[in-house]
Amino acid sequence: MTLLPTPVAAFGYLLAAICFIVAIKGLASPRTARRGNLIGAAGAALALAVVLLSTEFAGANLAIVLVTIAAGAVVSVPVARRVAITDMPQLVAIFNGIGGGAAALIGLIELTQHEVLGVQGDAMAGTAIATGIAIGSLTLVGSLVTFLKLQGWMTARPVVLPGAPVLFGAAVIGTIAGAAVVAATGQVWWGVVVLVVAGALGVLLVLPVGGADVPIVISLLNATTGLAIIGTGWAVDNVLLLVAGTLIGAAGTMLTLAMARGMGRSVSGILFGALRGSSTAGSTQASDRPVRSATPEDVAVALGYARRVVVVPGYGLAVAQAQHVVAELVDALRERGVDAVYGIHPVAGRMPGHMNVLLAEANVGYELLVEAGEVNPTMPSTDVVVVVGANDVVNPAARTEPSAPIYGMPIIDAEAAGQVFFLKRSMRPGFAGIENELLYSAKTQVLFGDAKDSLAAVHAALKTV
Ligand code: TAP
Repeated sequence: MTLLPTPVAAFGYLLAAICFIVAIKGLASPRTARRGNLIGAAGAALALAVVLLSTEFAGANLAIVLVTIAAGAVVSVPVARRVAITDMPQLVAIFNGIGGGAAALIGLIELTQHEVLGVQGDAMAGTAIATGIAIGSLTLVGSLVTFLKLQGWMTARPVVLPGAPVLFGAAVIGTIAGAAVVAATGQVWWGVVVLVVAGALGVLLVLPVGGADVPIVISLLNATTGLAIIGTGWAVDNVLLLVAGTLIGAAGTMLTLAMARGMGRSVSGILFGALRGSSTAGSTQASDRPVRSATPEDVAVALGYARRVVVVPGYGLAVAQAQHVVAELVDALRERGVDAVYGIHPVAGRMPGHMNVLLAEANVGYELLVEAGEVNPTMPSTDVVVVVGANDVVNPAARTEPSAPIYGMPIIDAEAAGQVFFLKRSMRPGFAGIENELLYSAKTQVLFGDAKDSLAAVHAALKTV
């Protein structure tokens, strides 16, 4: 006897599915993202409540489920609250991996039931279970490796094991063959074999990916989590899991493609580039070529007398947590009648929408955030560009250097403006690890220092201009 009759539970699932769809739609724009997130969380809470109220729990199982939920909340809530925005990709990697791991575990548990009942003859259920185990395990282990890379607990450079292509091919064949045996026989031990071989495949898939490409792989693994959840949903006959898995799979795939396009790279190049011999991680050495340096007063004078200013924020803005200070400076310029806006590159920072999220924290109006495609035509009539903790996204090598790892990536056309100021701490390169010729241009000056301190000093100096 359950508390919720089946039709009511089905209606609850439908409502939760609608919440998920509305949530994804909301996440598409910074304006509605916060609301979208809340609606998604409400959908997940509703789904959980429906499962608990419509399931008949034997013995102490309900208590075990409740304790597990509480333990998960005790760990995840403080972690999610405390994580720095620059560490968000790692958090997503871990959450993602856990989703895949859960799908794999459910698959194995289902297999024990099917072994008892006999899965023979039910090829569809067997295939769904095998898919959930294989892709879930690949996602879990792959996500853990991306976490280690992003957290700096292992090298972020591409790691190519000796004989990697052969090992990779063997792991692919082993996973597919093992999954086929699971689908045909329903034997638990074959499920464990698939779990292990697919986990090894996850390691082999992610190890050769390096540098700037790692966050794209997280998004790809997000898509594979969706596939694993679809397999599980089919296996346990749960429509909501099918809907959620499809949404996650589709959203992850679209995000992966959008990120790859934003960086001017192909997904296969990202995954297999290092196996073919082209590494994506460049140098982290500081260049010793001379540049013209500027003082905060120089920057303030140029800004104070400009008609149009474009601020190009990048990863360093997030590192310095300078979003409030930059917003105050831009507000001060606008109050003086300067047409000051932000030029937002799609992959500035380390995750999609990174700059939008940061600047939203500082209550910057969306009308001031101008996308690369719209801001570039205005660059020739822009007097001053201030590049705050950004590098690759304004690097002309993306257009001129076919051998550069960022070649083909769209950039913000800072070099077309009258004057360019870079606010950075040193002459170290950006994520791609390559020289930026714009730093040495006759129209460029560098204000060295932490972005937050530099911006505060420029703002103070502006008051005297
Ligand atoms: P980067 O090219 O990485 O440049 C960041 C700059 O910030 C560096 O020049 C660094 O120089 C400076 N910086 C760091 N901390 C600073 C601080 N506290 N104060 C002042 N400056 C600081 O960043 P970007 O231009 O935003 O480009 C993003 C890169 O990440 C691209 O290559 C992109 O492909 C890649 N990527 C993006 C994403 C997404 S989806 N956004 C995902 C993966 C990879 P110093 O060290 O000298 O200060």
